[in-house]
Parts: sequence; structure tokens; C-alpha cells
Amino acid sequence: MALLELKNVSVEYKLSEGKLRAVDNVSMKLENGDVLGLVGESGCGKSTLIKGIINLLPSNGKVLDGNILFNGSDLTQISVEEMRKKRWKEISLITQSAMNSLNPVYKVGTQIIEPILEHNGGTKAEAMEKAKELFDLVGLERGRLDDYPHSYSGGMKQRAIIAMSLALDPKLIIADEPTTALDVIVQSQILERINALLDQYDGSMILVTHDISVVAQTCTKVAVMYGGKIIEYGDVVQVLKRPNHPYTMGLKNAFPSLVGEKKELVSIQGTPPDLSKEISGCRFYERCPFRQDKCKEELEITNVENGYFYCARSNERDELRKLADIADTWERM
Ligand SMILES: Nc1ncnc2c1ncn2[C@@H]1O[C@H](COP(=O)(O)OP(=O)(O)OP(=O)(O)O)[C@@H](O)[C@H]1O
Ligand SMILES: [Mg+2]
Repeated sequence: MALLELKNVSVEYKLSEGKLRAVDNVSMKLENGDVLGLVGESGCGKSTLIKGIINLLPSNGKVLDGNILFNGSDLTQISVEEMRKKRWKEISLITQSAMNSLNPVYKVGTQIIEPILEHNGGTKAEAMEKAKELFDLVGLERGRLDDYPHSYSGGMKQRAIIAMSLALDPKLIIADEPTTALDVIVQSQILERINALLDQYDGSMILVTHDISVVAQTCTKVAVMYGGKIIEYGDVVQVLKRPNHPYTMGLKNAFPSLVGEKKELVSIQGTPPDLSKEISGCRFYERCPFRQDKCKEELEITNVENGYFYCARSNERDELRKLADIADTWERM
């Protein structure tokens, strides 16, 4: 049984006028030990998807249909109280605004040992020892456990939240751009340490990021989101080396080389679709250098080994991949 399996999950937000489908019919599977990178441009639905998984959508947001199976139990069917019990211990979440989630009136150490004491019992001293180890792991001085959050910098707060999220060896960590306040070197250091820790007990992670270089370094699987859909999904080496969807091909060009060779960075022109409007066919149509009329029709999924993608020109993917490597292909758009 997979640790987490999403089957045809859609999420909609009610707007003052109309509605907005931020996640559309998403399916994916995560096994124990997997680290999944969820990538895509701003506004493509990454945060909405993970808030849907963990039942933290704002009041105007709703998981419309589909199943979210965690260790076999459907998270769409459990109560808020049951979900609360799973937090920290089974699924822990590091949000995009994690820095603001420390309580200003308690010392940071007190806040870190609280869930440890609540879930694991034991003495305060034992919990504090664990907190110290976690501070070592995220590169904070142990002495800072005695300080209040206001004396922490943004980056330190972020590290403290990461430490807290790791406190109970959760089976699944969902991290929504957890290292944005940290510089690149510290970021990869911390992600490596989280990975090493997860390895020790076969824990899994969903790592949300804009940055596919981070995915290449950290993840075993990748889901590429565009306009509310996962348009390509699979093993990280496969997807990043031999992308099958034109958007993934373009995304790869927009980042410094993952395999060392120097090449020109090319960005994808245009902007993502407005999700409050009905979209038929491929969401990437407007920006795709390879678009054809048939792309406007409802797309079929193409299954590949350990993954899938949605592109009407799937049979021509080897050819398109070669063209996508040429900067001119994108600049002529
Ligand atoms: N509370 C809300 N009410 C209405 N629409 C929302 C709400 N939150 C998000 N949206 C819309 O849902 C879509 C997806 O947003 P989401 O925050 O999930 O994107 P994201 O991929 O996490 O972006 P970013 O990389 O900027 O964090 C966007 O069009 C956004 O405007
Ligand atoms: Mg987000």
C-alpha cells in the first residue's frame, strides 16, 4: 500500500463572483521513502493541493471530489479532530508562512518540546535533549532554545519551524517552500540533512518549490504542475533528463544546467492561464511552441514507466525534446 495516494483530486475556491478551480483532477502516489518535488510557477496550485491534502484550506476552498488515501485511510473523510491527531506525528507541515507560526509569548524551546511531550510522553529533560539534537541538525545554536521568537531572524525562525516539524519522526513531511528565507548554500545543506534524517526511518517528503535545481538535488520523484494540473509526473531522473511535456522541457531550459554543461537560460514567454475561466484542452496551449489545433481538445493521459504526462503530441516527444533544447524555439513564440 502506498503511503499517500491521490485519486482524481480537485479543489475549488468560491470567489465573490464565480469560482476558481485551483487543482484539477490530480492523481499521484507516494511510497515510504519517496521525496517528491512539486514544482511549477507561482499560482499553479501547489499550496492549494497540499492544503487540500492536510485539510487546511481556507473557508472558501473545498476538495470537490476524489480520494486522498494516507496509509489507506481517506483524509477527505476524517474529522478535523482526527486530522489534528495525525499532525506532527504522522504528517507534519512546514508552510510558506512558517516564520509567522511561532508563538511570540513562549520561548522557542518550550514550543518545540510541547508536541514531543504531548505525543511521546517522557520527561521535559528528555524532550529538551531531542530539541537540542534537532537544533544541531538545522544549524541553530542550542542556547537559542531559551530565547523568544522575536530575537530570531527570519531564517532562524524558518530553521526552528523545520526542527519542530521533524520532532516526532513524521511519516510524511509536507514542506511548502521551506527554505525560501535561507540562502542557497544553507538551503541545500538543510535539505540534505532532512533527507538524511528521513532515510533513517524511511520517512517521506513532499517538497514544494519553484526551483528544479533543488528538485534535482533532493528528490526521487517530481510532479510538474501547470494551471492546476499535474501535467507531468515521474521519477526525477527520467523527468528531468528526458521530459515528455513541452512545459517541463521549457522549465528545464529556464534553470542553470543540472548536469554541468553551460548553456543559455531561456525563459518561457507569456503567463499562466486564468483559473477562474473554463479551460478546455491543454492549459499550456497559449505558451507552447509546439501547439496544434488538436491540443484544444480534451487531453489523454500517456502512461510511462513510473509516471505519466498529458500532451496531445506524445508520439512526437523525442523530436519535440530536441527542438525544445534550441533557444530559438522558445524565443520565436
Ligand atoms: N483563498 C483563496 N481564494 C481564492 N483563490 C485563491 C485562494 N488561494 C489561492 N487562490 C488562487 O488559487 C490559485 C492557486 O494558488 P496557490 O496559492 O495554490 O498557488 P501556488 O502554486 O502555491 O503559488 P506560489 O508559488 O505563488 O505559492 C491561484 O490562482 C490563486 O490566486
Ligand atoms: Mg504556494
